[in-house]
Amino acid sequence: MIMTLWRNARLATMAGPEPWGWIEHGALLTEGDTIRWVGDDAALPAGLQPEREVDLGGALLTPGLIDCHTHLVYGGQRAREFELRLQGASYEQIARAGGGIRSTVAATRAASDDELFASARERARTLMREGVTTLEIKSGYGLSAEHEARCLRIARRLGRELPLSVRSTCLSAHALPPEFDGRADDYIAAVCAWLPQLQAEGLVDAVDVFCENIAFSPAQTRRVFDAAKALGLPVKLHAEQLSDQGGAALAASYGALSCDHLEWLSDEGVRAMATAGTVAVLLPGAFYFLRETRLPPIAALREAGVPIALASDHNPGSSPGLSLLLMLNMGCTFFRLTPEEALRGVTVHAARALGLHDRGTLAAGQRADFVAWDLQHPNELAYWFGRNPCRRRIVAGVEATT
Ligand code: NIG
Ligand code: FE
Repeated sequence: MIMTLWRNARLATMAGPEPWGWIEHGALLTEGDTIRWVGDDAALPAGLQPEREVDLGGALLTPGLIDCHTHLVYGGQRAREFELRLQGASYEQIARAGGGIRSTVAATRAASDDELFASARERARTLMREGVTTLEIKSGYGLSAEHEARCLRIARRLGRELPLSVRSTCLSAHALPPEFDGRADDYIAAVCAWLPQLQAEGLVDAVDVFCENIAFSPAQTRRVFDAAKALGLPVKLHAEQLSDQGGAALAASYGALSCDHLEWLSDEGVRAMATAGTVAVLLPGAFYFLRETRLPPIAALREAGVPIALASDHNPGSSPGLSLLLMLNMGCTFFRLTPEEALRGVTVHAARALGLHDRGTLAAGQRADFVAWDLQHPNELAYWFGRNPCRRRIVAGVEATT
């Protein structure tokens, strides 16, 4: 396997005791797709003989960014709904009137595989251009065995065809499809019945549920989680976005990887997540676009030592943005995260929210996913917005283009 020395860089390794895991005159040695050594540029151990050297010209290097919560595969768009909301309709009212997620379900079912793939690929590329190297994609706009499988296959295909890792999450319990009107429990039974097929086809890395008064109840969430657990699949939850359903504590009792949104998270929920080691995934794009005013309990999460991640939540209804860097900025402006917490939120903690232990820091043994930025200091990642300082993206040791 070829060894490459990437030298003359300033490293925010996000590992070790230093703020940012900082190494001022840094270098990194990769062997194939793995980081072999990270340290001072002048201190490469004598036994390590790189075949190739790349001078990074003093660039700032960070781990590849991880967007740990997206709904990237869908048909159509919902700009009309945005207009209605501007005229006073609420997200909840639109959803109850059959718009919202359901309208995207209709557009997704009507789209061909190639259309869905092409539109999702474009969105993935936009995220990648800003340094994303790992992306989670949820299903949840198909809402039948056939269409959920189709969307998850497209997510897998993106991972095969792009220089990008894709983790796919089954969110079949996202909304009630029209053919199950008034029969939510029957729909949940159907979801639990098709989950084994999806898993057998290798399409599922985790299982998610939208637990909310406009979606599924805690009891229904439990049934889906039981089905996931029976298959050995990890769970995560859209929890406490619009109301406190006690979803976070429920998810934590299943050892959930993450609970996401969390504007209405209670103290009890915070404690349960801390005990279970569940990651809090904050989604400032949805908070902004739905003009929410209630903040997730950041101070309580910090105090309890709950790892905080940030993600785009890209979806056509509540967060149509495609910039993970903007989420760093919003995580700081809206949620008062520090810029260092924000970067942790899209590296180490985002990896953990996906159950991945081989990425998120620059350290020996980790996957060689990293990004070179045209920036002086890593705090600038959360500072600029509408500017893309990403210069090079290295995925599994290979310089990638988008
Ligand atoms: O994560 N909260 C539920 N699901 C999405 C919104 C989906 C939609 O409106 O299409 C979210 O915000
Ligand atoms: Fe979401």
